[in-house]
Parts: sequence; C-alpha cells; structure tokens
Amino acid sequence: MKLPKIATLPVIGNAPEISKDILSFLGNHFSKKGDTFSFKLPLNKSVVATCDPVVFKHILQLNHKNYRKDYGGNLLKLALGNGLLTSEGESWFKQRRLAQPAFYKKRLEGFFDTMNSMTLEYVSRLKERNAAHIYIDTEMMQLTSRVVIETLLGSDVSDKLTNIQNYIYFIQAHVVKMLRIPFYNLWAKVNGTEKQFDDTLRMFDHILYEIINKRKDQPPKNDLLSMLMDARDEDTGEGMSDKQLRDELLTIYLAGHETSGYTLAWAMYNLCMHPEAYKKAKEELRSVMTDGKLTIENYKQLVYLKCVIDETLRLYPTAYILTRESKEVDMVKDLEIPSKTLIVLSTYFLHRNPAYWQKPDEFIPERFEGTNNPLLNSDAYYPFGGGPRMCIGFYFATMEITIVLAQLLYHFDFELDKGHEVAFEPLVTLKPKYGIKLKLKTST
Ligand code: HEM
Repeated sequence: MKLPKIATLPVIGNAPEISKDILSFLGNHFSKKGDTFSFKLPLNKSVVATCDPVVFKHILQLNHKNYRKDYGGNLLKLALGNGLLTSEGESWFKQRRLAQPAFYKKRLEGFFDTMNSMTLEYVSRLKERNAAHIYIDTEMMQLTSRVVIETLLGSDVSDKLTNIQNYIYFIQAHVVKMLRIPFYNLWAKVNGTEKQFDDTLRMFDHILYEIINKRKDQPPKNDLLSMLMDARDEDTGEGMSDKQLRDELLTIYLAGHETSGYTLAWAMYNLCMHPEAYKKAKEELRSVMTDGKLTIENYKQLVYLKCVIDETLRLYPTAYILTRESKEVDMVKDLEIPSKTLIVLSTYFLHRNPAYWQKPDEFIPERFEGTNNPLLNSDAYYPFGGGPRMCIGFYFATMEITIVLAQLLYHFDFELDKGHEVAFEPLVTLKPKYGIKLKLKTST
C-alpha cells in the first residue's frame, strides 16, 4: 500500500508549516491521516512521519541495517564530527564498543557521590540565594551541565567551560535552522552566522585539544575522559585518536546535559501540576531518607520517584523525534517505504498514541507501577531510543535525575507560578519556550 500523503508546495514542500510549529504539524496530520503519513521537505526530499510502535520497532531494531542516521545527523556532524551520535556503520560500531565499558552500570555508580555532592552544593547555594522564584529549566541546565563536565573531564577544567552552554545553544539553533528553513545556508553566509558558527567550533577545538594533551602527561583519573583514553579495541588493541576523543567529548557533553536538564524541569512542572503525586513522592523521600542522607543503597528504593521520571519522559520526551534515512526500499506492515526517504519517528506522539495508552495526555506515574509497567510490556515507549543506537547514557541520566529530584524535593517546597505561560520550543530537544517559573521555600 502507498503511504497516505499530505498536500505540499512545490520547491519548499511542507517546510513553512514545520518551521512554524513542528509538533502541531505532526499532531494535525496524525489525527487526519493515521499513524504514518508522508510529506516533503525542500527540494522534493521525501519524508515519512510515524507514531506507530510497529514501525518504530522495525526501523530501530528489526531492520535497522537498512536505515542510517539522516542528513540532519550530517548537519550535526559539522559540529560533533564522528562522535557516537552522528557516526555510522563500522566506524560507529568500533567507537560504541570502545566507549561502552565507560557506561557500564557499575562504573557509573562510581559517579553517584560526585552527582550527589554537586547537587547538595547546588541546594546550599540556592538556600543562600533566598530566591522567591526560580526558572527551573535554566537552573537544571546549569546543574546538569556542571555534572556532565565534572564526570567527563574532572573538576580542574570546569572554569574554562562555564559559558559553554550559550555556545552550544547557538550551535544547535544554527543546525535546526539549516534543517528547517529553506535556503537558510545562503542567508547564514551573508549575515555572518556561518562565520560565527565556524569560530565557535574553533574555540571548542582549542579548549578540548588542550585538555586532551594535558591529560596525556597526567595519571588516570576517575572520569569519563580517562576511561575513554584507556579504552582499547579488543581485536586490534588500538585506542581512540585525539580527533576521536574531541568528537566524543563534545558529543557526550551535548547529548548528556540538555536532555537531562529539561527532563528535570518537566518533572518538576508535572509534580507541581499534580499535588497528589507531589505529596506521594515527598512521603516516599521522607521514609527512605530517614537520616536526611541519600546513598547508593537507599536511592534504589525511590520507586515512586522513578515512576514520576518514567511518566515525565512519556509525556515530555526530550528526544521528541528520532530521525533515520532508508537505504533501500522497505516494507513495514503493508506500507512501502521508498529508498532515500527521511523517517521521522515521533516519540512525542507515540507516547500519547490513544491506541496504546489509556488517558494518554494525563500524568499518571502509577501506570509504571507493578506488573503492567510499560517498561516491561509495551513497545510504545522509546524515550531513550531503541535497538543498537539506544542511548548509551541511559543509566547515567536515570541516576542523575533521581538524585537531583530527590534532593530538590527533600530540601524545598515548590509551587508553579501559574501566571507564567508554559509552552514548547522543540529544537534539538523539547525545550520549555518561556521557561518554567517556580515559587520556592525551604522545606520544614
Ligand atoms: C533524559 C536524558 C536522556 C535522554 C531522553 C536521551 C535520549 C537519547 C536518545 C533517544 C538517543 C537515541 C537517538 C537516536 O536513535 O537517533 C540517545 C543517544 C545517545 N545518548 Fe542519550 N539521552 C539522555 C541522556 C544522555 C546522557 C546523560 C548521555 C551521556 C552522558 C547520553 C549520551 C548519548 C549518546 C552518546 C548517544 C548516541 C548513542 C549511539 O548512537 O551509539 N544521553 N539519547
């Protein structure tokens, strides 16, 4: 069967609708055309969008060899080079095998104390500030940025990287515009944005190569950089080149802080919007952190908090779309996917697909409790992707988010400032457009 198509303009395709609001674009057409439809990007580029779990599983797992990271990935490559997120085929496989041991659960648990003490330092600073309001998204982005820099590179370099987030935001915005706005690349040449982009990358290169070179003369440390520098290929005994290390450092920083930062912000938003869930999470914390301390042992008892995180990632998956490009023509269900077609896997709409979720738009952490837990028995949940390219930092993120939420809820009482609008700004990740403003006071 041919894929359902939507009306499209010559030359520019559906780009105007997409650059205006990609989530409304996808949502409108899923409700009219069904769970899978096709459309066009500029220059007649064919795209298939889906929120069907069968198609997700087919593309990410069952027939993943027929799908490469798409040309959006190629644009990201301009910044990230050949890091894990953007590389392909043999070179990706070799790199993943080298990096994987650094992300084993047991190794990551070695970062528990660092994550916890950094969070406690943040809690103290926040108490000292005596702020009546905070923008939780900005605060969380700064915290997760510091955590990933510390675990990746150690504390001695964090000073150099304090402003890194603004530069990263600029790089991402540039890449997203190149992707969504027709002929933006020509405009970027004229208005100087392309030069600014190149200069920013050169600045990153300078900092990262300096860190790598310095580290060669130092004893190994307990951070991801040392683990990546020590990694050796099982077959060839080779390690990573400096360029490969630079690409991985930037990739892990980019992939590892924004997704976690915004997930934390959306989790706090959900808790403030749902007082019952807030109360239940706080009661659990009080019963688990009996002496006020969070440890690697008692953190695993925070089962309701974990459900809050899972439900937040269902409703607000920060990786709200995943993209691939088909190599050869393929069939999934009875639909024909032509070759060289861009596939948009809409995690956001899959997670709210009414055929697979009851009360799909409601925040109900309890759905992740017990034997019906979708983590065990549903194919309609992909917050960390799936198949061989699934998120390598999944356990890092889960541990970090749980620690930060636990400490925030334990030490403060939060309330949503309802006069402040909350909306989406879907860029590379699902960002809250105007920020999420919370009132806070120290918990008694
Ligand atoms: C809530 C937090 C996070 C979410 C929602 C998330 C989500 C994802 C998703 C959906 C993918 C797959 C992309 C695709 O298939 O196209 C991915 C890949 C990746 N993530 Fe995460 N991520 C999170 C945190 C992290 C952290 C903390 C790190 C590192 C410290 C990390 C590092 C990576 C890397 C390196 C990849 C590429 C893996 C590969 O292709 O081999 N992520 N992430």
